[in-house]
Order: sequence, then C-alpha cells, then structure tokens
Amino acid sequence: MPTFDNPTDKTLAELGLTNSSEIQALFASVQEQFDRQLAAKTSNEPEYLALHHAWLGRKSGVLSAITDKWLKSAPPAMRPVVGQSLNELKRHVESNLESFRVAAEKSSAELAATREKFDLSLPGVIRPIGTHHLIRQVFQEIEDIFFSIGFSVVEGPEIETPYYNFEALNIPEYHPVRDDMDTFYLELPKGAPGPLLLRTHTSPVQIHTMEKRQPPVRVIVPGKVYRRDNPDATHSFMFHQIEGLAVDSDITFCDFTGTIDYFVKQFFGEGVTTRFRPSYFPFTEPSVEFDASCIFCGGSGTAKSGGTCGKCKGAGWIELFGAGMVDPAVYGFVNYDPKKVSGFAFGIGIDRLAMLKYGIDDIQVFSQNDVRFLRQFP
Ligand code: FA5
Repeated sequence: MPTFDNPTDKTLAELGLTNSSEIQALFASVQEQFDRQLAAKTSNEPEYLALHHAWLGRKSGVLSAITDKWLKSAPPAMRPVVGQSLNELKRHVESNLESFRVAAEKSSAELAATREKFDLSLPGVIRPIGTHHLIRQVFQEIEDIFFSIGFSVVEGPEIETPYYNFEALNIPEYHPVRDDMDTFYLELPKGAPGPLLLRTHTSPVQIHTMEKRQPPVRVIVPGKVYRRDNPDATHSFMFHQIEGLAVDSDITFCDFTGTIDYFVKQFFGEGVTTRFRPSYFPFTEPSVEFDASCIFCGGSGTAKSGGTCGKCKGAGWIELFGAGMVDPAVYGFVNYDPKKVSGFAFGIGIDRLAMLKYGIDDIQVFSQNDVRFLRQFP
C-alpha cells in the first residue's frame, strides 16, 4: 500500500484504495501512528489535552477528518468496512486517552503532594563551614612571624632513611642519643631497599635543604614527626614540629637568641617567662633547650590539689624546643665549608606551644577529633 504524509487529507478513492484489506491496513497504520504519539508523551495534563485535541477534536481531530474524508465519501460497498474500522479505531483512541488522563491526574496529584511535603519556600539547609584545626592555626601564626623576618617555608618527607634522620645529622649508628628517639621502622617487602623509618624530628630537612641550596639559607619546616613515646598529658606518638635553619657567612649566637626572643615575644606576648638551658644535640654546638614556665601550676611545680603538677612533672617549666648553633660536622655532610659559614637551628614542639598559649591541659585532645574541643577554636 502506498504511504502518504497525511492520508486524512484525501478520500479513499484519491488514495487509490478499493478493497477491504487495503482499507483495514490503512486504519491499522493510523492506529500505529496514534500509539507512537501516545508512547512519546509524559503523563501530565497539558500533554493529555494536546493529544485529545489532535485525535478527538470536533473540528480538526484525526477521527473527525476520517469521518469526513473516508466514511462519508466511501462507495456504499465499502461503507461497512470503513465504519467498522473507524469504530474500532475510535474505541482504541478513546480508551487509551482515558487511561492517559487517569495517569496524568495521578501524577499531578503526586506532584502537588510532594510540593506540600517539601515547602519550597522554606530557607535551605545551612551546612556549617569547617575551620582549620588549632595545630594548623598555630603553624600559620608561627609561619607569619618567621616570614616577617625573612624566612621561607620548605617541606620534607615523613618517611626517611636513617642517613637523613640520623647519620647526616652527626648521629652515627650506635650513638646513645638514638635511644632518646625510639623510632618506628617500616616493615618493607623482602628485597626492597631499606631500612626506612618515620622521621623522629624535622631536622632531616636541614640536610635536604642544604644539599639543594647554597648559603644564605633561612628556612622553617613545619610538619608531623613520630616517636615511640608513651602517651601522657605532654607526649604523643605523633606530634608536630617546626624546624628552623639559618646559615650565612657571619651568623652568631646573638643572632640566634635575638631571633628566638623576637619569635617568643610575638607569639606569647611580653609577659611570658622563658629560659635557655644547656643541652646536647649531636648536630648543634653549643646546644640549648628552651623552656616556658608552666601555666598550669604557675611555675611552682605543685598542682592546686597539693600534689606534683602533672603537666610539668614538678619542674615548673615546660620544654618547648631544642636548638643551637649548627655543628660544623654537619656542614661536612652537605659540602658547605665550615670555615666560611655559620648558623643556628631549632626544632619547636608545636603541640606543647599550642597547649601553653591556649591553656590546653592534655596533648591527646589534638588528635581525638572531638568537635566540642575543635569548636572552641573557630
Ligand atoms: C629535637 O627533636 C631536635 N630535632 C630539635 C633541634 C632542632 C635541636 C634543631 C637542635 C637543632 P627534642 O627531641 O627535644 O629535639 O624535641 C623537640 C621538641 O619536640 C621538644 O622540645 C618538645 O616540645 C617536642 N616533643 C618531643 N617529644 C614529644 C612528644 N612525644 N610529644 C609531643 N611533643 C614532643
């Protein structure tokens, strides 16, 4: 049978259809067209009305056009088959359109219910914005202080070789000072080059930096460090340090104490009581420890309860960092000429610094992630 763009424009004679089977085939193709249009619609009221108008509209609907063009002009012999086919098509269109109407009504009722359930006029959910952890904030404060006197920031790996963590810092194997830094060694696959360890301090980055740069060097190194220390109020197995290193042609011990004094006054204010105390590090000579008076017992070493202060363990002082003038032996490991350069280095324990400044009495709270603690430092 020939196909036409719109067969309802023409009479059956103009379409050249002369027998019942051709006419039934024509009606079947019209029905298919209806089914295709119906399947392409989503069930909502405007789509239903448009389809209803297109097929059942009194003046311009497809079924009215078929009645006018095909039924009324059909030769008497063909009328029964045209009439019967038209009735079947009409029933098909009407019953399908009715189901479509019911589905459209249902989905608009559901949409209305959803709109009622979710009041779209209400303000949206406000999600709280996170802030920097107190340790990160303290890092930032310290970095800003050192930026203001010409230092820049460098970083180094948390997994180190014993060479950088110990040997190049003038701590040979079997040196007793290694005992002070009980170390986490990595379990490596068989045959892997090693050994490797979690760095016990940020000092290895002194070596990495001097290997890469020539003096003058003025850097600070913020980062995490790890030790097998038993946890208590001031000890953690993972804590944070900021290393400092300044090397130039004429750096003296006065430059060192002046820098530390400037830093401490900027960070704690003028009122803090501090002291240098002689100490020993294989990579500095002379070496010092820098302490601040214990804010928890007022420097007396005695807790309010009358017993020994648990924070400073009765000392009245809390150790904040180790420091000193870079030992000339270290320059040998990085090919600096110890006769031409001098410098100082320090390694500040950030967690204890934060505890003292913000009156925190237990170092463990920094890694417990309790939001009641974290929210106090927005
Ligand atoms: C060092 O780590 C040296 N690398 C510091 C240094 C750098 C000296 C450069 C000279 C030149 P020490 O082991 O003392 O030193 O640790 C430095 C600081 O880290 C301590 O003063 C303390 O504030 C902090 N610290 C040490 N162990 C712990 C721990 N288990 N938990 C929290 N803080 C700690």
